[in-house]
Amino acid sequence: MIGKPATGSSAWTALALHHAAIKDRHLRQLFAEDPVRAEKFSAEGAGLFLDYSKNRITGETVRLLCDLAREQDVAGQRDAMFRGEKINTTERRAVLHMALRAPRGTRIMLDGQDVVAEVQGVLERMAAFAREVREGIWKGHAGKRIRHVVNIGIGGSTLGPEMACLALGAFTDRSMTFRFVSNVDGANFTAATEGIDPAETLFIVCSKTFTTLETMTNAATARRWIVSGLGAEVAVARHFVAVSTNAMEVAAFGIEPQRMFGFWDWVGGRYSMDSAIGLATMIAIGPERFDEMRAGFRAMDEHFLSTPPERNLPMLLGLLSVWYNNFFCAETIGIMPYATPLSRFPAYLQQLQMESNGKRVARDGRPVAWQTGPIIWGEPGTDAQHSFFQLLHQGTKLVPCDLIGFCEPLSRLSGQHDLLMANLFAQAEALAFGKTAAELAAEGAPAFQIPFRVTEGNRPTNVILAERLDPRSLGNLVALYEHSVFTQGVIWDLDSFDQWGVELGKVLARRIVPELTAEDEPELGHDGSTNALIARYRRRRGSGRTC
Ligand code: F6P
Repeated sequence: MIGKPATGSSAWTALALHHAAIKDRHLRQLFAEDPVRAEKFSAEGAGLFLDYSKNRITGETVRLLCDLAREQDVAGQRDAMFRGEKINTTERRAVLHMALRAPRGTRIMLDGQDVVAEVQGVLERMAAFAREVREGIWKGHAGKRIRHVVNIGIGGSTLGPEMACLALGAFTDRSMTFRFVSNVDGANFTAATEGIDPAETLFIVCSKTFTTLETMTNAATARRWIVSGLGAEVAVARHFVAVSTNAMEVAAFGIEPQRMFGFWDWVGGRYSMDSAIGLATMIAIGPERFDEMRAGFRAMDEHFLSTPPERNLPMLLGLLSVWYNNFFCAETIGIMPYATPLSRFPAYLQQLQMESNGKRVARDGRPVAWQTGPIIWGEPGTDAQHSFFQLLHQGTKLVPCDLIGFCEPLSRLSGQHDLLMANLFAQAEALAFGKTAAELAAEGAPAFQIPFRVTEGNRPTNVILAERLDPRSLGNLVALYEHSVFTQGVIWDLDSFDQWGVELGKVLARRIVPELTAEDEPELGHDGSTNALIARYRRRRGSGRTC
């Protein structure tokens, strides 16, 4: 079903007028006028609490944004996705990542097949394998138990498990290490395998297509590393498994079908962390904890499916992003987890959001006349406060931020957790309310410093709180953002599930490789800049000098 441009809807027109009317109102004023603002603009569901009161909104803004969601039929599109309609229109594919965590016994039919039964079948095989590895039943070629798992994959085939293994470090088997190789830069492989024994190492080659240049190159390197380290070609069978949708390419690589864990074309790479792509996560935390993570995803799915927009966390988050992106012309959103184990969460969300909604044509193939996906970035607090928060507080750009925190500490140094959370709350407060010249003068600040010390405030934040960082809350959080991205994509009338834009660079790189390595001087047919760069690189390649 092709949607309709949001800008043509009456809610959009009303929002534009409303924005003009309230854009200069300060959060100080909005809070002063409404003593119950914090209660009014907060929502709870699926284990998460969202305080969105420190946004530049009124009750009217929320009403109009929810009207926009209704006019754009976010709920209808959501239900179409869940029913298995082929809403990824450019690839003619269904989008069924919600089936990855559907409860056993649910039926979701696609082309005559119950996809939930297929998912359960793969999960059972993954769990059996994960237990064998964790319990030391699965032995390497030399009879040693596996102590190191190296995941080879890129993009959606690494960001999820890498983020999750770090985030859930406290729940992982501490006798094992989990490493990730993604970049075709050989330094990545070298560092990941530094000091580990091939006899104790399992490689999981993750690639939906099993053709991705980086992954296939690293997998071939890993194969050589195992064969030379263990002195036998047959060792590959005990040290490699694959996660893919492409059984033929997996077999061609030499991994037997029973060592392949499948998924399906209806799972996008960036929506795949709870599919077989999560095998490393499952080995790290165990099948039971992996199930808890899936339950966390599922709780948010159910909330998304059943809650009206006014209280629907992912919809609210998505609509607020639209509000700043399209009406305040904010270009970016910062995501700051106040939890060091979530250090890769911003990177994970970058792919999720920017690969999904970084598009310039609507679903009918015509260029959009409105802004689409914002730039997503972030770092854990409090570190971020001491690097780029200066710009957030006093710079000239409006940067809405999500601040994510947990009520219970993971660390036993629990006094420190209070300090951490105090900083989260303080930053949200400072960003919203700032400090005026009058307040500074009353505090005795030297007059000459006052202009420099004024912090204007009126910088919006969402504060997202969960009880504790654990598998379930991680599932809650990831699904929150998945459905927020979906909501935004529907408003902007995009196919959020393709990624054609990344193809051109891949094709050009394949063309340039032989031009860098050819013995004879190649005839270069690029633009002047690219030709000159290639020529310079060729002259210095391997010389040991720096460019
Ligand atoms: O380059 C983009 C992309 O296609 C992502 O969408 C995907 O997650 C990643 O590459 C890896 O692809 P594959 O899993 O097929 O190796």
